[in-house]
Amino acid sequence: MKVAVFGLGYVGSVTAACLAANGHDVWGVDVDTAKVDPITQGHSPVVEPGLDELVAAGVAAGKLHATTDPRLALDRADVSLICVGTPSTASGSTDLTYIRRAVRDIAEAAGVVVPPDSGFHSIVVRSTVPPGTVDGVVEHVLAEVPATDGFTFGTAMCPEFLREGSGLADFYDPPFVVVGTRNAKVGTALTDLFGFLGTEVQVVDVRTAEALKYACNAFHATKVSFANEMGRIFRYYGVDSREVMRLFVQDTSLNISPYYLRPGFAFGGSCLPKDLRSVLHLARVNNTDLPLLAGTLATNELTVRDVVDRVVAGPGREVALLGLSFKHATDDLRESPSVELAERLIGKGYHLRIYDAIVNPSRLVGANLRHVKSKLPHLQRVLTDDPAEALRGADVALVSATDTAAIGALLGNPPARTIDLSGRLGANVEALPGYEGVGW
Ligand SMILES: NC(=O)c1ccc[n+]([C@@H]2O[C@H](COP(=O)([O-])OP(=O)(O)OC[C@H]3O[C@@H](n4cnc5c(N)ncnc54)[C@H](O)[C@@H]3O)[C@@H](O)[C@H]2O)c1
Repeated sequence: MKVAVFGLGYVGSVTAACLAANGHDVWGVDVDTAKVDPITQGHSPVVEPGLDELVAAGVAAGKLHATTDPRLALDRADVSLICVGTPSTASGSTDLTYIRRAVRDIAEAAGVVVPPDSGFHSIVVRSTVPPGTVDGVVEHVLAEVPATDGFTFGTAMCPEFLREGSGLADFYDPPFVVVGTRNAKVGTALTDLFGFLGTEVQVVDVRTAEALKYACNAFHATKVSFANEMGRIFRYYGVDSREVMRLFVQDTSLNISPYYLRPGFAFGGSCLPKDLRSVLHLARVNNTDLPLLAGTLATNELTVRDVVDRVVAGPGREVALLGLSFKHATDDLRESPSVELAERLIGKGYHLRIYDAIVNPSRLVGANLRHVKSKLPHLQRVLTDDPAEALRGADVALVSATDTAAIGALLGNPPARTIDLSGRLGANVEALPGYEGVGW
């Protein structure tokens, strides 16, 4: 394949050299001669272990070229990979100037060069860009440039996951290859281009691919700060947090795993809020701030408020709450966010009927009973053991219960709106008219 790589910084130069090493005909383009000239002379324009040798080999084999002229790169090219910078502006927004410029360069060059035999050219963003960029910026710029004879464009987002310092190893062993496109031909072109990696190419919605890179980097940053907050607080208690975290990562069930990573409703229960408050108290008495952990309580509160706001924004005042305990298969109501949700909606004058497969007010005892009495003293009146009864006449159902009776009743008599608090109600429920997810 002939591949044009726009931007020869860390991502572009690694990408160009690796693709050339795997037999593709690669043309790197940069506006900066300080990037182009070293490659032309067989050297890497950036410091990256192993890259100098790979660039030298690619140039010597005639597979790797660099230029400031997009027309040389676009001539008969099948794919353009955009690897230009996307820096922060003063406000923190993403500066897409270089993306716009690169797309315009591609479109204008396509107007004056020979198209590939297929007539089809894939324009693929590898830079990190906010969701909506391919649709709103790339497609928009393409539409502004006069149509070209012979070239038909398809667009995609294919985020890059390499890290500086281990760029080559990361390029050859990516965590995943994800292509966001609605154009099947682009999906096929990238499957061919990256076939040598031996990693399945996952074709997804464009915005999913754009968001994925941000999710990864936000999570990585959160991990670093989490470990640092653990270290900061526990050192006051003579704890070596490296030892704590050595053990922590051995839990691959709950700690380092997909668990707790499904967007949905708030956390609660008898342990997480209590123990989080306890850690924050330890911080306070030691005059230390733990803003990440404090932020988790704040964001949890916002999650409950968001559902209340959604209900209030819609029509009707009859609400069915299916599922009351803080998680599946327990009758523990202590600090259940569903109890909090019920309390707020009742406080706002909504008529609630609540179904829970397990919670039976006559069997509640101890702390559980005290919690319910303080939060929902009229539980007995609004609780039913029949989900159909809870749903009768409801304008909206708030659903965290996934038991067969609840799902069956919902499918049998769906209200105008179903708000999914669990994220796992299944395809049948998601197909209902008026279905809404909380985190998606
Ligand atoms: N650096 C990383 O480790 C890394 C990893 C994954 C993703 N990313 C993302 O990839 C993108 C590129 O990152 P980088 O670190 O390689 O950036 P960089 O600043 O090292 O390189 C960007 C290059 O683009 C060139 N450029 C700007 N406009 C151009 C145009 N119109 N045509 C051709 N070249 C142009 C610049 O001259 C520069 O050489 C960013 O969006 C970044 O967030 C970076």
